[in-house]
Amino acid sequence: TGMFTYDPGFTSTAATESKITYIDGDKGILLYRGYPIDQLAEHGDFLETCYLLLYGELPTAAQKADFDYRVTRHTMVHDQMNRFFTGFRRDAHPMAIMVACVGALSAFYHDSTDISDPHQRMIASMRMIAKMPTLAAMAYKYSIGQPFVYPQNDLDYTSNFLKMCFAVPAEEYKVNPVLSRALDRIFILHADHEQNASTSTVRLAGSSGANPFACIAAGIACLWGPAHGGANEAALKMLEEIGTPDRIPEYIAKAKDKNDPFRLMGFGHRVYKNYDPRARIMQKTTHEVLNELGIKDDPLLDVAVELEQIALKDEYFVEKKLYPNIDFYSGITLKAMGFPTSMFTVLFALARTVGWIAQWSEMIEDPSQRIGRPRQLYTGSPERDYVTVAQRG
Ligand code: CMC
Repeated sequence: TGMFTYDPGFTSTAATESKITYIDGDKGILLYRGYPIDQLAEHGDFLETCYLLLYGELPTAAQKADFDYRVTRHTMVHDQMNRFFTGFRRDAHPMAIMVACVGALSAFYHDSTDISDPHQRMIASMRMIAKMPTLAAMAYKYSIGQPFVYPQNDLDYTSNFLKMCFAVPAEEYKVNPVLSRALDRIFILHADHEQNASTSTVRLAGSSGANPFACIAAGIACLWGPAHGGANEAALKMLEEIGTPDRIPEYIAKAKDKNDPFRLMGFGHRVYKNYDPRARIMQKTTHEVLNELGIKDDPLLDVAVELEQIALKDEYFVEKKLYPNIDFYSGITLKAMGFPTSMFTVLFALARTVGWIAQWSEMIEDPSQRIGRPRQLYTGSPERDYVTVAQRG
């Protein structure tokens, strides 16, 4: 009974007010707390962006130093956590490991599962921002059969992460500052994106009063899908499958064919009907990283650049306003840095954790937020009487 607005996929329903992130999809504008994404990516760093998203203002020098210190204090994971990793097969997808391990953090930190206490909520937030790189690097190391590398807290957030991923015992490892800066910028680009599927999942999970670790684990699970965070992995696989520019027309035709489920991965967006501003910065970052690594001709980049040019001129893509999104170029960049494809979505989750937490905190502090409880239009059978199995024809 009762009539409700039918809005599958929530294309026109605002479920919350928010002061965190603003998107104008027609103009291709993205602001975190009012600051344009390109300015933050150019001048800021990721931890500062975390502070901005969580507290609403850019930190002063003293606040920044204090925040960096507080995050650094939480980078270690409980030694018992190692057993979670060894319980998985070596070929487990690292996103499966992340869903499990982040959810499991709630069993380690009973103190910060008390969501009624703002201080404990902030500690839980710090813990997750600090431990995501450690857990992500452990997932990677486990998959390649190397021992875990512990965090080294005199390094900055992103350099520390690179070291945990790529340092090998008994060999000296020096973080390449250009790569560290590029990855830090990639983290900034991914830090928040208002009410996307995974963030809405975190809010919905949090609306029941679930603990923050469980909520973020739910967000990671949602992010995994190829229509969302899994698109960076899918986009790179697609570029590899296309292989050479001469095969692009074939794939463009497949993408346009209504009877073929294939889509151009890394293209199109629910909100952006213009060039994704993050994709622009990502493309620049890709060139910087390839330059730094001395990669002159990357066949995948050739395919990507040409695919983009062809699609941007094609009537189908123009009419539907399908532009490259953030995931189109990120895969090429991460691959050049040495990350395997299966880690791409993990890196997205690592960076988005702060956005999820900021949105979760905002929801907890908003007295108008009640448990999320969508309604439905029932289209099933009307009421009928039970029939015993002997009488069923
Ligand atoms: N290739 C070919 N056709 C497409 C594509 C594409 N990548 N994206 C959308 N279309 C078509 C679609 O077939 C539909 O056509 P029609 O109106 O004739 O049925 C029209 O464009 C609108 O698409 P939609 O599926 O109704 O749009 P949506 O807002 O529900 O979906 C999307 C948005 C991002 C899921 C979709 O564009 C897509 O699947 N893109 C590929 C996956 C991808 O790159 N995702 C990453 C998104 S950005 C980062 C993130 O969110 O994590």
